[in-house]
Amino acid sequence: MTAIQSPDPLVMASAIAPLDLIAKYDRRLPRYTSYPSAPHFQPLSDDRLFRQWLAVLPSDAPISLYLHIPFCNSLCWYCGCHTSVINRKEPVIEYAHSLIREIDLIGAAIGHRPHVRHLHWGGGTPTMIRAPEMELIMAALNRNFSLDLELDHSIELDPRTLTDERALSLAELGINRASLGVQDFDPIVQESVNRTQSYGLVAAAVRLLRQAGIGTINFDLLYGLPFQSVQSVVDTVKRAADLEPDRIALFGYAHVPWMKRHQKLLPEASLPGPNQRFLQANAAAEALTGRGYRRVGLDHFVLPHDPLSQPNQGDRVTRNFQGYTNDNCSVLLGFGTSSISQLPQGYIQNTTDNLVYRQRLSEGHLPCGRGLAFAGDDRLRGAVIERLMCDMEVDLAEVARTYLQTPGIFADQIRQIDEMTADGIVRRDGWRILVTESGRSFVRSIAALFDAYLAPADADGAPRHSHSI
Ligand SMILES: C[S@@+](CC[C@H](N)C(=O)[O-])C[C@H]1O[C@@H](n2cnc3c(N)ncnc32)[C@H](O)[C@@H]1O
Ligand code: SF4
Repeated sequence: MTAIQSPDPLVMASAIAPLDLIAKYDRRLPRYTSYPSAPHFQPLSDDRLFRQWLAVLPSDAPISLYLHIPFCNSLCWYCGCHTSVINRKEPVIEYAHSLIREIDLIGAAIGHRPHVRHLHWGGGTPTMIRAPEMELIMAALNRNFSLDLELDHSIELDPRTLTDERALSLAELGINRASLGVQDFDPIVQESVNRTQSYGLVAAAVRLLRQAGIGTINFDLLYGLPFQSVQSVVDTVKRAADLEPDRIALFGYAHVPWMKRHQKLLPEASLPGPNQRFLQANAAAEALTGRGYRRVGLDHFVLPHDPLSQPNQGDRVTRNFQGYTNDNCSVLLGFGTSSISQLPQGYIQNTTDNLVYRQRLSEGHLPCGRGLAFAGDDRLRGAVIERLMCDMEVDLAEVARTYLQTPGIFADQIRQIDEMTADGIVRRDGWRILVTESGRSFVRSIAALFDAYLAPADADGAPRHSHSI
């Protein structure tokens, strides 16, 4: 098999996958933040299904909440999030009041005050909502939910817009974890994606947050951006590690210009190909583990004290729409446009249209757009995929037992896994499937074997997903 030739000593030292392995396994695949994945949700004409599910929410089980704020100050050309640029404050204030209405409607549909362990503000840029409206939203949450005294309360922040005053007001709201969008420190890369922010600016944001008492810091970094090289990505992750964030998410840039038209503004010819992306991801992982970070799942790196490295007893790392988490609640309620709720019965996604969102809520309806009720072996397959994505291994017999099935239903997958073992990316011990260290980059391809919804068009034809490497 041919090894990738690289003059970079860092890369020579890392486990280099053969070119033909990348060619074989780099397909367009879901990121498996849910199973079935969101493109398989079906349109919903009203909120009846969601209301039925909310009415039977168990009163004793803790739940998690997600608030989506779909606004930003300026547009980064790589962005794949559901957001838009807005320069006036009135629509943002109106949106905050719609969120409050949604929280009250959902609270009434549940009929009791569920206990909340995790609360996450995501976007877009959540701080586009001013502090007074954020306080009103918190009051609505407190009216309808019982927030844990030790609430895991997190927010996504754009370091370019953080002030010391705002850091203090976020801490006063009880926020204890902040995720900063860092992406890359190279000025040429930054300019090419319309996002310039100096190292000093990021360092200052970290300092402000820590001074304000928000002690747990996450960074989002990207590889696969225009003009990135193995060396520039390694430089970025090392400089990021100097600031000692507790957690680093190193995402592969998802290029989906048919869905996100502004991505066409990127200099496409300068985008790294699959082989370069593979090398960048692996060299960055090696640099981070060399600095004491532990690898979690596909793309997260955490310091040893982080709960993702050491979940509480009985808990484990799970995967939800925000990526990897130590959130073990079986119910996640999403508020705001495009947000997804996960319930024991299935998924409900809100409309992505701001006007429809506001209109439905003003008429007293929940703004459901799409959904999926679990059927057949969805839950079983979802559990197998989640374990593979989180633990890099799964015991098919154990998962099947949980769902009163026999692992024999996976005979076809076992045959395909056995074929993959020859490539060195996976091993099998009876019903236990173990992704090898060199197979980590290919875990989405291994998980996809268990995806019953993956049509050939998903993998090869009209693109729906981004590249898996
Ligand atoms: C909501 S943003 C973070 C908060 C804030 N808006 C910011 O950018 O600083 C979430 C993260 O998603 C990641 N992201 C955005 N577009 C992406 C894409 N096309 N592919 C992979 N990751 C992406 C970026 O790392 C970004 O920091
Ligand atoms: S990356 Fe963050 S700041 Fe940039 S457009 Fe996307 S959500 Fe907004």
